[in-house]
Order: sequence, then C-alpha cells, then structure tokens
Amino acid sequence: MKQFLLRDTLIYLNDTSFNSINKWMNSNNFDNVFIIVDKNTNIHCLPILLKHVPLLKSSFIITIDPGEASKSIEKVHAICSCLINKNITRHSLIINLGGGVVCDLGGFVASIIKRGVQFINIPTTLMSQIDAAIGGKVAVNLQHYKNQIGLFVNPQIIFIYIPFLLSLSNDELLSAQAEIFKYGLIYDKLLWEKCKLESDSKIMNFENMISDCIRIKIKIVESDYYDYQQRRILNFGHSISHAIESVFFSSKKQTISHGFALSVGLICETYISYENFQFSSKKLNMIVNAILSVFPKINLDKNLDEMILKYLKSDKKNQNGLYNFTLIKDVGVAVVNCSVSDIQIIHALDYYRKKCQT
Ligand SMILES: NC(=O)c1ccc[n+]([C@@H]2O[C@H](COP(=O)([O-])OP(=O)(O)OC[C@H]3O[C@@H](n4cnc5c(N)ncnc54)[C@H](O)[C@@H]3O)[C@@H](O)[C@H]2O)c1
Repeated sequence: MKQFLLRDTLIYLNDTSFNSINKWMNSNNFDNVFIIVDKNTNIHCLPILLKHVPLLKSSFIITIDPGEASKSIEKVHAICSCLINKNITRHSLIINLGGGVVCDLGGFVASIIKRGVQFINIPTTLMSQIDAAIGGKVAVNLQHYKNQIGLFVNPQIIFIYIPFLLSLSNDELLSAQAEIFKYGLIYDKLLWEKCKLESDSKIMNFENMISDCIRIKIKIVESDYYDYQQRRILNFGHSISHAIESVFFSSKKQTISHGFALSVGLICETYISYENFQFSSKKLNMIVNAILSVFPKINLDKNLDEMILKYLKSDKKNQNGLYNFTLIKDVGVAVVNCSVSDIQIIHALDYYRKKCQT
C-alpha cells in the first residue's frame, strides 16, 4: 500500500485489505452514513465495499443515473431532499463511490448540506483515481456549461482500490489516458515517454501510473490550491475539450466521454502552442500522432465551430473578454495565462479535422 497526503487528506493507494478504511471508520462515530453510487458502481463496486467494510452495511444508499447529465443542480436538489428526509446531521458521513461524476456531485452535496458534512471519496474509474477524486475541486454543470457551480473542499480520506478497474470498459480506461498524456505534457517528460511506451505495448502498470499521477497532482495543487496561477497548468487541453463536451451534451443525440473530448483538446491546444511558441513541426507531429494512435477520431463538423466558440466564452479562466489558455512550450513545460483568439481556435479545429483525414 502507498500513502500520500494532500493538505489534510490522506490518500491510500491499493490497500487491498481495506484496513485503513476499516480503522478510520472505527475511529469515527457518525450519526449515519450515506453512500452515493451510480447504477454501475452500485452493481460492480458496492458489494465489494460492503463485504470488506462490514460497518457500512447499515448505510443508506443513494443511486443516481450514470453519466454527465447527473452533474446537475436538479440532482443536487434531489439528493439533498433525500438526505434531509433520511435525517442527515452535521455528524453524518457521505461516501462517494464512483467515477468523476459521483465524486464531483457527491463532494458538492456534502459541502453544502447542513453547511457541510464530512465525506470520503472512493474513486472507481481510472480517470477519478488519477485525477477527479483528488485536489478538492467539486462542481456541477449549468445549462450545458461545465463545472459552473462549485467550490474547493477536501474529503477526509481518499481510498483507491485498483481492482475496481476490472469491471471498467476499455473505453473508460482509455478515457483516463488523455489525462495521463496531459500530466506528461505539462509537467513530466519522463511520464510522457513512459505513457507513450505503455500505450504502444497496451500494457499499463496501474499502480505505478496512478502513483506517478497522484504525486504530480499533489505537487501542482499544493503550490496553488485556489487555482490562481500554477494550478492552471492542469487546464491544458481543457478549454477546448470542455466546450466540445458542452456541444455534445446539448445535442442530446450524442455523448462524449471527458477523456475522448480531452484527446481533441490536447491536440488543438498543442497546435496553438506550436503556433505561439514556434517549436518544431517534428515535435508537433510526434505529440499529435502519439495521441491519435490510441484515441478514436472524433467527428467535429465545421458547423459546430460557432457553438464551440460560444461555450468557450464562458470559460472560468477568461479575462477582459480574452480566452485565457494554458499552453506548452515543450514536452513537460507549461505556460499559464496565454491569450488566444477566435481565429487561433478555428485554425486549431481545422488542423484537427485535417489530421483526422490522414
Ligand atoms: N474535480 C476534478 O478535479 C475533476 C478532474 C477530472 C475530471 N473531472 C470530472 O470527472 C468526470 C469524468 O469522470 P469519469 O471519467 O470517471 O466518468 P464517470 O463518473 O461518468 O464514469 C464513467 C462510466 O464508468 C462507470 N463506472 C464507474 N466505475 C465503474 C466500475 N468500477 N466498473 C464499471 N463501470 C464503472 C460509470 O457508471 C460511468 O458510466 C467529468 O464530469 C469531469 O468533469 C473532475
């Protein structure tokens, strides 16, 4: 088992005996415990948790629909009503057992109900084990705009059990790879090389990879918890990917996972970086080809560009009417607060479409 500390939150990685969580539960006396799951983690992960942590057998289970649509203010209202009907008190505990959606939503609910109750994250997707469950950002979406209502708040503990990943689909595993590529591109050239190698061989050492990502995320978050400067490097790829997620999300016909949208965001924002910092086209191709060798090509019709720009206009990082992007100067070297124009974004989307045809 590995252990990490982020502010006051202990992160346990792969404690297969569940000792740490049993000990922690035994040393706390909660009025009642609520476990938030989605329909998939209810089936695949909840029975494992209850088997290993018998104290949780009397918990009240709240099950939500899987998917991004659950990260809504309406769902917050429904869960809070349910918690109040079930007599939640300030001495209750909420456990988020699921991917980034359950952790973002459940963390948000826990931080506002009764002005805040304790919560723990038990992330069950690779995406949430390397990223979403860690760092204290919780949020829900509003009118198809991503993460518009949220706060910074930390869980008591984060318990990462790697075997939960066994029931995850290949697409969901792949989705997380976009965030791993991102960590390499913004912070760690060695991780980038390792990730490229592992994606070529299709064999990933999960424990090492998760542990590398957690270490990077902790370093970045601790240097700028409230996201004013250095933490913004984590946004690389996300300005465009969030806008793409919003476009798909609002269309109702199509959905796209966070990681697949991020693969497009990484390519487009690498292209803008190449134009801004004028690194070699060889480097541009190396990065883009590595991403396209594992991710499917996403069909982004030219007539979606206007909508993408519309959603980008509400990006939380914008300042004085300009898009404020994180770009890279080189692999492992990110630069925050770069002003980017509409035309650069259109060029980057055109570049993505062209690359997809080759
Ligand atoms: N707060 C942050 O810092 C942060 C960082 C990155 C991403 N996010 C957010 O995280 C969300 C994406 O997270 P995600 O990729 O985990 O998506 P998700 O939570 O939607 O999970 C993906 C799918 O996997 C299913 N699933 C989860 N665990 C499973 C398991 N063990 N076995 C089988 N199925 C399982 C879920 O039901 C869902 O259908 C987005 O909303 C994104 O904005 C937040």
